[in-house]
Amino acid sequence: MGKNIAIITSGGDAPGMNACIKAIFDICEKNKINVIAFKNGYQGIIDNDYSVLQKQDVANISSFGGSIIFSGRSKDFLIDKNIKKAAANLKKSKAMALIVLGGEGSSKGAIDFLKYNDIPTYVIPSTIDNDMGCTERAIGFDTAVNNAVKAINDIQQTMAATKRIAVYETMGRYHGDIALYSAVASESEIAIIPEKPKTEKEIFKYIERHLKRGVIPSVVVAEKLFDVEKLAKDIADYFKIESRAVVLGYLQRGGAPSVSDSILAIRMGVEAVMAAMAGEKSSIMCLINKKIVPVELKKAVSIPKSMDVELRELFKTLNNK
Ligand code: F6P
Repeated sequence: MGKNIAIITSGGDAPGMNACIKAIFDICEKNKINVIAFKNGYQGIIDNDYSVLQKQDVANISSFGGSIIFSGRSKDFLIDKNIKKAAANLKKSKAMALIVLGGEGSSKGAIDFLKYNDIPTYVIPSTIDNDMGCTERAIGFDTAVNNAVKAINDIQQTMAATKRIAVYETMGRYHGDIALYSAVASESEIAIIPEKPKTEKEIFKYIERHLKRGVIPSVVVAEKLFDVEKLAKDIADYFKIESRAVVLGYLQRGGAPSVSDSILAIRMGVEAVMAAMAGEKSSIMCLINKKIVPVELKKAVSIPKSMDVELRELFKTLNNK
């Protein structure tokens, strides 16, 4: 009958998930382990909706964004009786381990799930938000920033030609990494992140400073902080300069993974299977000092995510002119 490893992709999809699935499949095949792919994240385990991955399922998938096994946030999984049902289904699958590709919420889901089942669970950090404190980087973040920077750079050409101030809204949930990294790499003048929130008045002061030195600034704002349409209108009214809001949205999350994300995804996928074969405790595969290190699940989840202080200081140095 052979050995089985179950996998899910959970939460918002992240570019690189498919590359990770392929790597998991390849290393499992080499070790004669079947990969049982439950669909739609934790929901698929509740519904017992799975397929055993075959070679043709994973052929040429690595360069695609999204997830071939579908990803999602399961509301049903917040209810005890459904978690118990999922635990029974996972047990029936005879999986020696569960690998969860997901972010913070999915890791907490894994902890809840382990209250009802004893199958070792390995989380692979996969979230464009890069909001997990235990790892230096999550799969998908690099791609999201590349996508955002490409869009900002392109749009800035038309903003410059028409002398408009653009306000770009980035994703990131409650964390500012996408906004900060995108602002630095696109040479934007102003970055507003949830870790250091600013008032509209403060943003106006920054804009004023740049206008005084003859620069029409580009403003990057992390989501959930402002209504960017209103902010752009307020800027236009106050400075009497045309202003536009640009919600970058899902173009950050879609598309081919960057090489850096693909390689991280492959390394983490292989390491998770190795951890399963070695019978490691439930853990998160973390990038620490260039190495993929399994950090015990509860400990990993408890590590707070901090912003990149050095990069923010650099950004301030470049833009406090
Ligand atoms: O977690 C990834 C993410 O894209 C966040 O940046 C964003 O806040 C959220 O998901 C959007 O979720 P949904 O696609 O479910 O609306």
